[in-house]
Amino acid sequence: MKRSVEIGVDVSCAASKIARGQLVAIPTETVYGLAADALNPLAVAKIFEAKQRPKFDPLIVHIASRESLDWLTEDVPAIIQKMVDRFWPGPLTVVLPRKSCVPDLVTSGLGTVAVRMPDHPLARRLIEQSGKPLAAPSANLFGRTSPTTALHVADQLGEQVAYILDGGPCQVGIESTIVAVNEDRLILLRPGGITLEQIEELTGTGSVVIPDSKQASRDSSGGLPLVPGQLKEHYAPLTPLMICEDIFRSTARTRVGLLTLQLSEADRKRASEMFESFEELSATGNLAEAAANFFAAIRKLDGQNLDLIIATPFPQQGLGRALNDRLNRAAH
Ligand code: TXA
Ligand code: MG
Repeated sequence: MKRSVEIGVDVSCAASKIARGQLVAIPTETVYGLAADALNPLAVAKIFEAKQRPKFDPLIVHIASRESLDWLTEDVPAIIQKMVDRFWPGPLTVVLPRKSCVPDLVTSGLGTVAVRMPDHPLARRLIEQSGKPLAAPSANLFGRTSPTTALHVADQLGEQVAYILDGGPCQVGIESTIVAVNEDRLILLRPGGITLEQIEELTGTGSVVIPDSKQASRDSSGGLPLVPGQLKEHYAPLTPLMICEDIFRSTARTRVGLLTLQLSEADRKRASEMFESFEELSATGNLAEAAANFFAAIRKLDGQNLDLIIATPFPQQGLGRALNDRLNRAAH
């Protein structure tokens, strides 16, 4: 545990660190972010170093006002305007052609930039006080479980950040939904806190293209991911994780933990006998509650020195899509 780092709610202190080109961990409604001044390449470089993140994986830029989107991007298409009107501030990230003020390092040299307006008062106040957009990936080591509390950040990145702004546990608990646009259709680059159903209710059935995850995610020449950052292995605990419909199928392992949405009374009793420990994400089967608990539950199981974590898939609807996406990558 690396908890010597300063943790608090002092936005002015955080803003002064940002101004000096240092890293500050910020609360958002989705997960904690590792933030730096997005327009300062030296500060942004520290993010990649701290996370041990490959430079081909571009960052999301966080803003606090709609006008800032125009500072960072070229013309905003009508369908994106509609999306941000409806879902900002909130767990939606839009990918648009960028302006030249956005450093190459932020976008990994792509012609586009990912932008979102988080729905957390402390994050918004920090962006406003800094007077700068903040580049911020999730505040975890690359490929590992995302943080949903200030202590999660301290545990993994405590020595790399100048300050952790503590906004309490994240309410949504999984990352933002990322969309790009192609002509008048949206491309769902990453399922997240805004569901496909919510988007289609706004933009119409069939207005969203979901890229085939089985298609090669890398190009054949240089290994650059075509959908950057969407690597198969991600969000992973150190303990092996296996997805399994039938949780009572016996395994050869001895110390096994269970991660599941919901258990019946009878299954809960059986699970407590059969598993070393188990995490039930929502006793009522509520997917929003499950999402808010998801990463913390994985971390908890991961800290128990288990041989294996067995996880059950979520219903493939609403937030269940994003949860299955995270689970599949954690299991890879
Ligand atoms: O909820 C969230 O989005 C959190 C909080 C901190 O805001 N952030 C987050 O960042 O999840 P990160 O770095 O863990 O994931 C960002 C994703 C990556 O998969 C990256 O490849 C993708 O956004 N991305 C960034 N810029 C892109 C671009 N120009 N085109 C396509 N994908 C992009
Ligand atoms: Mg991440």
